[in-house]
Amino acid sequence: MIDVASLSQIEQLGQQHVLRYWSELSETQKARLNEQLTHVDWEMIRYYLSDLKSSERDVRSGRGTIAPPAHIVRCPRTDAELDSWDEARRKGEQILREGKAGVILLAGGQGTRLGFPHPKGMYPIGPVSGKSLFEMFADQVVTLVARFGHSIPYLIMTSDGTHEETVAFFEQRDYFGLGHANVFFFRQGYAPCVDSETGKLLCVDKGVLGMSPDGHGGLLAALLKAGLFSEMKNRGVEFLFLHQVDNPLVKICDPAFLGLHVRHGSEVSTKVVSKTSPDEKVGLAVDLNGRTAIIEYSDLPSELANEREADGGLRFWAGNAAIHIFNRSFMETVATSAANLPWHRAHKRIPHIDDEGHLIQSEVENGIKFERFLFDTLPLAKTALIVESSRNEEFAPLKNSSGEFSAEYVRTHIVQVALNWLKAAAVTVPEAATVEISFRFASSAEDLALRVKEVEDLTFDRPVYIGP
Ligand code: UTP
Repeated sequence: MIDVASLSQIEQLGQQHVLRYWSELSETQKARLNEQLTHVDWEMIRYYLSDLKSSERDVRSGRGTIAPPAHIVRCPRTDAELDSWDEARRKGEQILREGKAGVILLAGGQGTRLGFPHPKGMYPIGPVSGKSLFEMFADQVVTLVARFGHSIPYLIMTSDGTHEETVAFFEQRDYFGLGHANVFFFRQGYAPCVDSETGKLLCVDKGVLGMSPDGHGGLLAALLKAGLFSEMKNRGVEFLFLHQVDNPLVKICDPAFLGLHVRHGSEVSTKVVSKTSPDEKVGLAVDLNGRTAIIEYSDLPSELANEREADGGLRFWAGNAAIHIFNRSFMETVATSAANLPWHRAHKRIPHIDDEGHLIQSEVENGIKFERFLFDTLPLAKTALIVESSRNEEFAPLKNSSGEFSAEYVRTHIVQVALNWLKAAAVTVPEAATVEISFRFASSAEDLALRVKEVEDLTFDRPVYIGP
């Protein structure tokens, strides 16, 4: 039996073609198609179908008056600013001691640009250790738990494409010491793909809809569905630190960031780094119509992107590092509100079957994928805060198979951070040395300085791993 509610929507929206092969399907195939149909957001399909070609239907993240973000904390430069950051750090440390912080990792992406045949988090990125991204993150969380004496739940969002391998990877490695009870895997949802000319749902096989992950903004619905807002509330977690799977330099639960978030009464805070050039392809923190927002690089008009301040710096310099802190209650409110987050359209080449049921690999962008973006939460917050961080110390995402943001690029940055910390601790180290410092040994230049006796006799004539 076809699900009655879905059938009514299919008929209303002229999508009967998805049932063309119904009588040929096995019971299992029918059940699967029914399951897929119950996940279709029919209201969204109806909205786009009503005027498929209209660009008015596209959520442009930068529509309106754009100005640099006013609600921003820059990196500390003066003594007074350093003191203020120190105070924020102490506040953040207190939050960690009280067990009020949890961590979310976004690991549902398909990683198409990298072209690695496993979930991106399994990529062996450690320049000397060969550790995976997942292990490097776990090292940080384990270190925080030991330092502050309180458990930290780690919530890992996967998608159908990454779930099984990710879970198996953690299980085989005994959760990297995080403890099974503190790691929560949950899957993000899916959205159907439609033909860009006709708006018809695309099928990838007889009775199988073409679906794609619903974007990192799918996080909110996925947390709700998995019951994780209640779970976190029961554990006393008030703040959710969020990071992406590709940046091994992220400072998980950075206490100063947590402290600033609380001091400013922010509901969602975002770290930004300086853009390297006007045309760097990174999202931007701005004020949009007077509200803090992040817009896509393609939504910043080029005359604005090229504007300079009197000192020669870019006026729009604040690149989104995709590192956030959310109040748990704010995130839950957005997740449960009827409107939730808007859908964005992306035109892609999407494989699909033709009228005879043959699979077609399209040479042109034939279809539309729908995604939600996490940063659309910012304008919904009563207060959103932007915090500047050091690009060299905190931002080196693994995105591409070569060039900028490739594995080689990321490893070079990991090594550079280690060299900077060693030099700051007055350890003599050649410029060309290859060094990796485990977070379990030291998680900052200050930490390393305290353990300098243990490293000052090292020779750096071959790659060195400084571990616990
Ligand atoms: P990206 O936008 O870089 O996408 O994701 P991606 O899928 O990893 O890579 P490409 O574009 O296919 O090459 C940024 C972060 O958001 C997560 C990713 O796992 C990464 O941590 N993400 C993205 C999801 O969790 N789900 C999604 O649907 C999309």
